[in-house]
Amino acid sequence: MKCAWVLLVAFASLSAYYVYLPLPSTISEPWKLMVLDAVFRCAQDLSNLVHYFGFVHHLRVLSFITGFFDKLDAESCENVKVTDTVFDGIPIRIFDPVEKWDKTLKRGVLYIHGGGWALGGARMRSYDQLCRAVAEGVNAVVVSIEYRLLPDAHFPEQFNDALHVTKYFLQPHVLAELSIDSSRVAISGDSAGGNLATAVCQQLIRDGNAINKIKLQALIYPVLQVLDFNTPSYQQNMDMPILPRFVMAKYWLHYLNGSYKYVDTVLANNHTSFDISQAVALRERLNWSSLLPSGIQKHYKPVVQPMGTPEVIQEIPAIFDVRASPLIAEKESLKLMPKTYILTCEFDVLRDDGLMYAKRLEDAGVEVTRDHFEDGFHGCMIFATWPLYFSVGARTRDNYIKWLDENL
Ligand SMILES: *[C@@H]1O[C@H](CO)[C@@H](O)[C@H](O)[C@H]1NC(C)=O
Ligand SMILES: *[C@@H]1O[C@H](CO)[C@@H](O)[C@H](O)[C@H]1NC(C)=O
Ligand SMILES: *[C@@H]1O[C@H](CO)[C@@H](O)[C@H](O)[C@H]1NC(C)=O
Repeated sequence: MKCAWVLLVAFASLSAYYVYLPLPSTISEPWKLMVLDAVFRCAQDLSNLVHYFGFVHHLRVLSFITGFFDKLDAESCENVKVTDTVFDGIPIRIFDPVEKWDKTLKRGVLYIHGGGWALGGARMRSYDQLCRAVAEGVNAVVVSIEYRLLPDAHFPEQFNDALHVTKYFLQPHVLAELSIDSSRVAISGDSAGGNLATAVCQQLIRDGNAINKIKLQALIYPVLQVLDFNTPSYQQNMDMPILPRFVMAKYWLHYLNGSYKYVDTVLANNHTSFDISQAVALRERLNWSSLLPSGIQKHYKPVVQPMGTPEVIQEIPAIFDVRASPLIAEKESLKLMPKTYILTCEFDVLRDDGLMYAKRLEDAGVEVTRDHFEDGFHGCMIFATWPLYFSVGARTRDNYIKWLDENL
């Protein structure tokens, strides 16, 4: 009996140790977030363990675990007709609001889900519910893209999938078939999906066509650059759930088909040091000393190494590819970008990616709505329904939908 108590206490203390994480008091519902983070870490640790023993790639295990709990078949409900189909060979899920009496054209939204180019999916419950909410709230046809993921696909394949679906969707006959007003189409995405959404917009500009067919872009805590892992937000939120800095660095390396052995190298900004000539010019485009207001910079200092690790650029040339890091696009392209909404969260390593992009777009003359959440954390918008409900999740979702409704 005594022994059982000792075991129980030991187990409880171990669990508490695993779950407990000091969090800022101003973050939305810290205890709930702690538990959510522990569940995520547990799934990650389990995947790494399976990977370690050489059974299956850890991302496949993680995908399986999240998919197991989170998959949803295409089920229409009273207000939204849901269909799985393909555009240009790439699977998509269409959410079509049912307006029985209304014969006028609807608005259109292309949605690109997040998940580090590795996780998530148009068929996942959280994204399915988000797209339903957008379809209903905006009375828009939402096309959610099921692009290929890591470890099966690497950059630029995710990007190309998103680009191909976008080009297919923008064809007049496709829009007409879906009863969409071709002058009222938006592209949108969260996290890695925000990266793909804006990279696709920029590509349409570089291709010299079709960008005028996109009225708006709406980016939710987007990932926008791989050149500086020491922005004030990367420094401030280094250990913040659910996206610590080293996890983001690993997603980046994996996306760009580089080895994880470079994690410490990139975290030290050794890939954009002064002895790497290409880096110097590009770093000006993400110079946060001039792009961010001083209140955001706080006491943080830029990390610019005089000498770095040039071999990493030979190994991973995509580090300087604008299709991977849309923040470093030249001003001439940015001038042609559509009206933009950028949502950022205070407790997110990617906060400054979004804030710097907002500033660069504004400087190029683009109309930008910045929507910053002081109690937000990375990924919060998909936690807006039971059982994973956070008040900041619901507030971010509502603001986003309201902006789309008022501007599209
Ligand atoms: C990724 O790198 C491996 C070799 O390390 C190579 O075989 C493969 O083609 C690369 N994939 C892409 C998409 O570049
Ligand atoms: C960044 O901007 C600051 C302030 O305008 C300037 O002093 C610094 O030289 C710039 N750094 C780079 C790498 O362009
Ligand atoms: C960064 O580069 C310097 C100079 O080459 C090297 O001494 C240092 O070990 C590197 N740091 C990392 C973490 O790669």
